[in-house]
Amino acid sequence: INLKAHTTFGVDSRASKFVRFSSLDELKEIFALKPEPFMILGGGSNMLLTQDYDGWVIQNQIKGIEVFKEDDDYIYLKVGAGENWHEFVQYCINHNYGGVENLSLIPGNVGTSPMQNIGAYGVEIKDIFDHLEAYLINEQTTKTFHNSECNFGYRESIFKRELKNKAVITHVCYRLTKKNHVLKMSYGAIQDELQKQGVEIPSIKDISQAVIAIRQSKLPDPKEIGNAGSFFKNPVISAGEFELLQSKYPEMPNYPAGTEKVKLAAGWLIEQSGWKGKTFGNFGVHKKQALVLVNYGGAQGKDIYDLSAQIIEDVRAKFGVELEREVNII
Ligand code: EPU
Repeated sequence: INLKAHTTFGVDSRASKFVRFSSLDELKEIFALKPEPFMILGGGSNMLLTQDYDGWVIQNQIKGIEVFKEDDDYIYLKVGAGENWHEFVQYCINHNYGGVENLSLIPGNVGTSPMQNIGAYGVEIKDIFDHLEAYLINEQTTKTFHNSECNFGYRESIFKRELKNKAVITHVCYRLTKKNHVLKMSYGAIQDELQKQGVEIPSIKDISQAVIAIRQSKLPDPKEIGNAGSFFKNPVISAGEFELLQSKYPEMPNYPAGTEKVKLAAGWLIEQSGWKGKTFGNFGVHKKQALVLVNYGGAQGKDIYDLSAQIIEDVRAKFGVELEREVNII
């Protein structure tokens, strides 16, 4: 089958086997067949297929939102990994459950949110994550992982590293506020947008709408232009390296990232290297956000991969900084 419609990049790639599961039992049945090699597919929003896949593509379609527990202040929602992320965010806003509003409009499914600790506009999934349930393939058992066991970091988790292809996330439980919502408005862009809309005392719905407006203004809608969001991570360098760079480029955007470390804006580095908006026939670098590579229709995954390699090389040559891909390359 062609996987084109199952990933947001929308490039052609054929898989020899494609199966779906919508319950833990179905998942067990699939693994009883010893699929080799295999790849678990969620919303397909963070991968680039660069060739055909001679193996099993296994799509997670576990659905459902249920109350895991509740007290005066918090509700804990246990959500099927196959639920669409933004639909879940909208569900929370409609029920006045706070915590996910800054993460509005992120493509992909619930199951992928802890994989790479999705984050935007000052919030990361780890801030509202309670626990998840995963099926351990070799052990043939399920296991609960609490927040501290997930090794969450910037776009990082144990599921992306040590447990890659070893654990299948089936459900994720988030802890959300029922009242006294803690609004995260440290991003200037959110404040500007609220002001533009004339909002004085924002609700979680206002924040969600502001984030949606910001994202729509600079990120391409995968339904119109194929992409996987940020193609690269924002690089983290040592304070020493940063001092040298800053003396040369005083206007370089930078953010503190733990002790003696500084995070740089990959989009800025790529733009300064001359790549922003560059188009090569049917693919290129997004015009409004240089961190996003785009498929205008009919591009090959290999072309986009080669473009990313050239960008990495140029940024290394100009700034001595190594960009790392955020997107999974298959
Ligand atoms: N910038 C440029 N040129 C560009 C893009 C950005 O100069 O083409 C500069 C901006 O002016 C700003 C800085 O870089 O000073 C940061 O830009 P922005 O606020 O747009 O955020 P980002 O660092 O580029 C990250 C996430 C996004 C997330 C936003 C908002 C990563 C890899 N990306 O982007 O996440 O939405 O912050 O929090 O951390 C994603 O992961 O797919 C994603 C879109």
